Amino acid sequence: MTNKKSRTEENNFKVKFLPFETIVEVPPGTSLLDAVKTASLPLKTTCGGKGTCGDCVIQIIEGTYHSKPSAALSDKLASRGFSLACQTEVKDNITVQLPQFRELDIKSIVDSKFFKEQRDNISGVYELNPSVKKIELLLSPPTLEDNYSDLRRIERQLQKELALKKIDCEYSVLKKLAQTVRKNKGKISIFLSLSGKQATVIDVAPQSEGKKLYGIACDVGTTTVALHLVDLQNEKILATASSLNQQIACGEDIISRINFAQKPGRLKKLQELIILTLNNLIKKASKSAKVSISDIYLASVSGNTTMIHLLLNLEPRYIREEPYVPTFNQVPTILSRDLGLKMNNEGRIYCSPAVGSYVGGDITAGLLCTPILRDSKKVALFIDAGTNGELVVGNKEWLMTCACSAGPAFEGSGIKCGMPASEGAIEEIKMLDSGEFKYKVINGTKPQGLCGSGLVDLLAELFTFGYIDRHGKFNEKKAGKKIVKTEEGKGFLIEEGKNCYWGKDLIVTENDISNLIRTKAAVFSACSVLLKNVGLGFDKIDSVYIGGGFGQHLNINNTIRIGLLPDLKREKFHYLGNSSLLGAYLILLSDKNKDLANEIAEKMTYIELNTEPTYMNEFTGALFLPHTDIKLFPSVKQTLNL
Ligand code: FES
Repeated sequence: MTNKKSRTEENNFKVKFLPFETIVEVPPGTSLLDAVKTASLPLKTTCGGKGTCGDCVIQIIEGTYHSKPSAALSDKLASRGFSLACQTEVKDNITVQLPQFRELDIKSIVDSKFFKEQRDNISGVYELNPSVKKIELLLSPPTLEDNYSDLRRIERQLQKELALKKIDCEYSVLKKLAQTVRKNKGKISIFLSLSGKQATVIDVAPQSEGKKLYGIACDVGTTTVALHLVDLQNEKILATASSLNQQIACGEDIISRINFAQKPGRLKKLQELIILTLNNLIKKASKSAKVSISDIYLASVSGNTTMIHLLLNLEPRYIREEPYVPTFNQVPTILSRDLGLKMNNEGRIYCSPAVGSYVGGDITAGLLCTPILRDSKKVALFIDAGTNGELVVGNKEWLMTCACSAGPAFEGSGIKCGMPASEGAIEEIKMLDSGEFKYKVINGTKPQGLCGSGLVDLLAELFTFGYIDRHGKFNEKKAGKKIVKTEEGKGFLIEEGKNCYWGKDLIVTENDISNLIRTKAAVFSACSVLLKNVGLGFDKIDSVYIGGGFGQHLNINNTIRIGLLPDLKREKFHYLGNSSLLGAYLILLSDKNKDLANEIAEKMTYIELNTEPTYMNEFTGALFLPHTDIKLFPSVKQTLNL
């Protein structure tokens, strides 16, 4: 059943992938899996396309296709449009929803309990004073006596109102200046990019056009990307949008992306993918807030050093080669037209400063959201357990930092049942005495997988109930029928496919468990080494601030039970959520936060864990639940009788 009218000139068909709206053209009969690869989008293919693992399941929203039947997909699901990409041929223009790509459930943490309570105590400044301003002017008409140029008359008035020392003007503004100043009887809106006492006119419009001033705050993570669209005249967040970073098709962590970038043309491709991700989010946010993209004049971006290099198309290889030197720590302001971001052509883009190759602008921005720099006596620990684990210890007087390659497990990547914290993710899970699980799914839909907080809970519950031992190995005798065979070895059944969105059993494999244990061990051992370097024990920590992509509901007891975080009094812990995004928002709102972020970056001393002789020992010790040295976890020892 082909639709001849809908075919493209070359007789190819268009395949549209949601939610990215990425469109590729493929010849008739192409497998959907090949179309996914052509579009550079990720899809799990554990069996390599043999049609046996069921991991490449997608949902066809519109269009005709032909699928071979497979035991890995039930008839019921097939009748609802679900299909295995490797077993499906394109027979028409077609629209496909990819699994785990539904919009991530990132909430604005400006409304979080922590931020509401601590807003006046944080290291950053919470005020509205952005570096791009909109000024309304009434220009008196030129006369024979006052026949200064249009620009000179604008400068004269701006100098009077803002006491500026120097004013520049973009060429694009000059080109439309004569008409604009005369269109609305001299009533004009001027858009200024300010830096101290210097300003550049970046746009001008008749007041009658009612142009607004908006900005975007973005967190460019290795796994996920999130942004807030903000009204810069009243600091209101108008819309939030988030998705997976489309670069994920080229590697799940920063090292594999740096390696990917080494072949000709690949660095450019990585840049295009992150720009595409950001532009889709900007489009989505501005559509939902009914905002014109040309009214977005400022962007504040925070991300790890590699992500910012890839965003700016800068060679990233020296980040991973000894002595681990990035191209920059503080990026100059970039113009949106140079990057191709969907905002006003003269829009300004600011990236948070990095400390070094492995402690990036996401950490300096994140620290702005904590009270760490307010106190000279108390010692705080900041942990960002994203795809890369970064830690900072210190206070107003000193800051020490390190990074560990934790891997993306707690962001749901690289785990069979893992997914980012988006609709359909199990974010809380408890085991009942009967051995059944009770869980809470984001947006209350059928479960599709587990996000970071769900995975922490799952590991803690399996351990507490004795289904896994301290090495993370299954207790098969106890688990009985719960142990199932998978393409990746033994697994533990969490939920049967008939109760799950994609119709596949939700299973955590033994490999996944060791992956999660390695991740938690990397973070905990980095913590131990960092503290030993400054001669402090865990007991000297007054507060612990946790950021990262776990989701909204991290259970602190469970993070301690699995040995991810130290066994301290629970009231010392504060879960921040996406602190990188909140930091980017603070920088967007106030120029003062740029200076503070630079100050933080300058102040931090970086420890390279690769050259720390004790790190490997610490890491090996942490590869147990909760730790080889159970004395470090007295509360877990007591509760579980270890
Ligand atoms: S890759 Fe399609 S079923 Fe395994």
